Amino acid sequence: MIRRCLFPAAGYGTRFLPATKAMPKEMLPILTKPLIQYGVEEAIEAGCDVMAIVTGRGKRAIEDHFDISYELEHQIKGTSKEHYLNEIRLVIDKCTFTYTRQVEMKGLGHAILSGEMLIADEAFCVVLADDLCDNPDGKGILAQMNELYKKYRCCIVAVEEIDPKDSNKYGIIAGEEIENGVLKVDDMVEKPDPKDAPSNLAIIGRYILTPDIFDVIRDTKPGKGGEIQITDALLEMAKQGKVLAYKFQGKRFDCGSVEGFVEATNYFFEKEKDNLEA
Ligand code: G1P
Repeated sequence: MIRRCLFPAAGYGTRFLPATKAMPKEMLPILTKPLIQYGVEEAIEAGCDVMAIVTGRGKRAIEDHFDISYELEHQIKGTSKEHYLNEIRLVIDKCTFTYTRQVEMKGLGHAILSGEMLIADEAFCVVLADDLCDNPDGKGILAQMNELYKKYRCCIVAVEEIDPKDSNKYGIIAGEEIENGVLKVDDMVEKPDPKDAPSNLAIIGRYILTPDIFDVIRDTKPGKGGEIQITDALLEMAKQGKVLAYKFQGKRFDCGSVEGFVEATNYFFEKEKDNLEA
């Protein structure tokens, strides 16, 4: 049973400036809910109850969001607006939030390593809140991955097919299919040019990692962009046959881009409009 979910959330969100000048990008709302809350709810559905958040300077709003706001609670108590807080209260009741700060921005691998002290010596999930996922037909993506973890007990990355011309936006994997939708990874490259991409299967921001990843990251040299890449660390694990890629069921929106963010907003509006109040 995986209890902990790590959220690297120290990035600047430059693509959303000026909105992200004084506000964390993880707090941008899709309808009425910030991106990171969608990720936390997906982790809760998957059985996690400890949310380990790697933040940075200017990210205090995340901690305040997952806490009680006494003044606000007092103001709306007993009014018709009280139910607006129901969902976030449930989240706060169900899990514990732990935080650490990534002091320097040295890549996703480095961000994950910064969270080591928040993770016990157990497998854990990683959610990149920019990648907003939804499965209208069943279990969420992390819950699907946890099922797979029970069977294989190794690192798992979620992948989806992309247009080959977009390979330079993602970690790209190659591997051999061992069951329907599950590949044993034998190659991974961070953001290759389309001509160098080993396939069109891109990693999206959902991972299950085993705790031996931390030692591997410590030994990982800076890669693409001079940053310590989780893709490079996972390639080392893959060489030992310890990484699977999973073609998940459901949808994923790249909310790190304005276009993906708008698509997600439209999608959730269509899905939720009957529950939204005028
Ligand atoms: C990160 C990873 C990349 C992965 C992507 C998924 O990149 O480095 O391998 O494909 O997340 O969203 P980023 O989007 O942070 O640049």
